[in-house]
Amino acid sequence: MMGKIGGLFRSTFLVLIVGFPFILERRVHAWSKEGHIMTCKIAQSLLERDAQHAIQNLLPDYVDGDLSALCTWPDQIRHWYKYRWTSSLHFIDTPDNACSFDYQRDCHDPHGKKDMCVAGAIKNFTTQLLHYKEGSSDRRHNLTEALLFLSHFMGDIHQPMHVGFTSDEGGNTIKLHWYRHKSNLHHVWDREIILTAAKELYGKDYDLLLEDIEGNFTDGLWSDDIPSWKECSDLFSCPTKWAVESINIACKWGYKGVEDGTTLEDDYFNSRMPIVMKRLAQGGVRLAMILNKVFSHSHEELAAAT
Ligand SMILES: *[C@@H]1O[C@H](CO)[C@@H](O)[C@H](O)[C@H]1NC(C)=O
Ligand SMILES: *[C@@H]1O[C@H](CO)[C@@H](O)[C@H](O)[C@H]1NC(C)=O
Ligand SMILES: *[C@@H]1O[C@H](CO)[C@@H](O)[C@H](O)[C@H]1NC(C)=O
Repeated sequence: MMGKIGGLFRSTFLVLIVGFPFILERRVHAWSKEGHIMTCKIAQSLLERDAQHAIQNLLPDYVDGDLSALCTWPDQIRHWYKYRWTSSLHFIDTPDNACSFDYQRDCHDPHGKKDMCVAGAIKNFTTQLLHYKEGSSDRRHNLTEALLFLSHFMGDIHQPMHVGFTSDEGGNTIKLHWYRHKSNLHHVWDREIILTAAKELYGKDYDLLLEDIEGNFTDGLWSDDIPSWKECSDLFSCPTKWAVESINIACKWGYKGVEDGTTLEDDYFNSRMPIVMKRLAQGGVRLAMILNKVFSHSHEELAAAT
């Protein structure tokens, strides 16, 4: 009897605390699952030995060293009561039509708490991971979680519409048609373009798509650009630079020509797809750059990172 009542109470309680934040949640998605997995796979393929080793240590055994298997974890837990504080870390709201990002002005949560945005989160978790080399002395932070958050947010900061306008919630409230079905502008950039590319150009084979992206930065389209992508003399100011790139792309390519009720199809897809692919590649290359610096055992690298 007691057990039954307890159970009933517990399930009602769960609906209240888990269901409620879910209703209030605005940005349900980040770069799609596929986008995050690709960003993390690209990064992992570029890791040096020290970083590879650290990651193997930090990840739970059941993923067998595969970072991409847990890169979507921050999206899965953001509605949990315990992790509600992470909700605003997935994006940045910038002033409508300003097409600019100013860290002091824009990096806060809806209550004005400073640093609670995707750029602040990247700095935060990078700082935490820098303690890894000091051994297990850092008991304040869970470095496994720090690794997963950093890996995920490096993807999000490169999704242009994650640095969007405040009143339309980064394009979430701009309802439109993607070809024949209903969608919204934010979701077009999170997922639709990636899914359409995979389906139309790669026979739904994501490994093939990933190979094409990797081919384009190792020996192709973007190979000359890699040094500039990785350029980052100060790990703590770089997230601002990447967020500025995103809001600029959001204005120039995301919002451009789109209104509520628009139908987007081939023209939009063909001109934006290359940008989405480049942002996935940049996110991966830069995540690897950070992880290599943070976990490197050479003192020179550490000096450059801090
Ligand atoms: C940094 O991470 C800690 C948890 O490890 C969290 O309490 C804090 O709010 C985070 N701050 C930002 C800006 O992400
Ligand atoms: C760190 O976080 C992970 C994921 O939430 C959890 O499974 C693990 O038990 C935590 N580790 C410690 C030492 O608290
Ligand atoms: C790779 O580059 C080729 C040649 O420029 C281009 O046609 C293709 O769309 C690119 N693939 C990706 C995934 O960016």
